[in-house]
Amino acid sequence: MSFEIGAYSRPPRQRGQTVFEITDLTRRFGRNTAVDAVSFTVEKPAMIGVIGRSGAGKSTLLRMLNRLTDASAGRIVFEGRDVTALSGAQKRAWQSDCAMIFQQFNLVPRMDVVSNVLHGTLNRRSTLATMFNLYPQSDIHRAIDILDRLGIAEHAPKRAEALSGGQQQRVAIARALMQDPRIVLADEPIASLDPMNAQLVMDDLRRIHEEDGRTVIANLHTLDTARRYCDRVIGMLHGRVVFDGTPEQLTTGVARDIYGADAGFSEAATSTAIEPLERPQEHAVREAEAAL
Ligand SMILES: Nc1ncnc2c1ncn2[C@@H]1O[C@H](COP(=O)(O)OP(=O)(O)OP(=O)(O)O)[C@@H](O)[C@H]1O
Ligand SMILES: [Mg+2]
Repeated sequence: MSFEIGAYSRPPRQRGQTVFEITDLTRRFGRNTAVDAVSFTVEKPAMIGVIGRSGAGKSTLLRMLNRLTDASAGRIVFEGRDVTALSGAQKRAWQSDCAMIFQQFNLVPRMDVVSNVLHGTLNRRSTLATMFNLYPQSDIHRAIDILDRLGIAEHAPKRAEALSGGQQQRVAIARALMQDPRIVLADEPIASLDPMNAQLVMDDLRRIHEEDGRTVIANLHTLDTARRYCDRVIGMLHGRVVFDGTPEQLTTGVARDIYGADAGFSEAATSTAIEPLERPQEHAVREAEAAL
């Protein structure tokens, strides 16, 4: 028995075409312009990092893309569909297609992990089915498969609050994947994590992009993470895009301009230096091999 509601037609996945077109996107809060005529195009699935100092407009931009915040002006077009104009069920369908991950994970702490992941199907389920926790078996299996892919299936029955921050963020990623989104937006996904967990989460986001062909757009507070994981970096300052290029083009001088810093600017100030590069298990394998 299925509890799915509302016809949801998502455009067929077509590689190579323009997937995302943002034109003059603007958000004003009173007299403050948080995002000021931002335009960029994503022509094929990509991993994009958004950087900039606090208050530059990074979160507001992401929230507008997902329609959590309404734009004051401008357009968001996804594969020919104007998502800026969507409302009601269609808007919720877009929000399914464009999943969001937050710095603070936004899980239900007392609920078990697998139920948190199943919440990713919320947008296409009836309130009644959700109230009584009635999930189709196929969804439960899929949730476990996704947790397994992220290496945390063993935690499925535990309460979310019993997990470490890194594990909780991976549950949040699993919840996002449950929506089978075309785009994953991540707002400072590693800002609350220690370097090792930060790396695991960034590795997962990279895999989601590479293996699934999803576009990932992540607000990142460290330059080294943006350089290491992203194919493209967008730099924001005072609500505007002041840089849009490859990690190679993101020189220290350019970074200084993006952060609006003076000549004393140090990259270390924006860096948590994710080290070492390998996962603990890989490290252990190398050590074991070296000992042979
Ligand atoms: N709901 C809101 N109401 C009023 N002003 C807001 C609101 N949300 C954001 N702003 C303002 O918009 C500007 C951009 O904020 P935003 O949170 O997008 O910046 P950010 O780049 O994500 O910063 P941070 O790195 O600190 O997360 C700031 O001046 C902020 O105070
Ligand atoms: Mg922010």
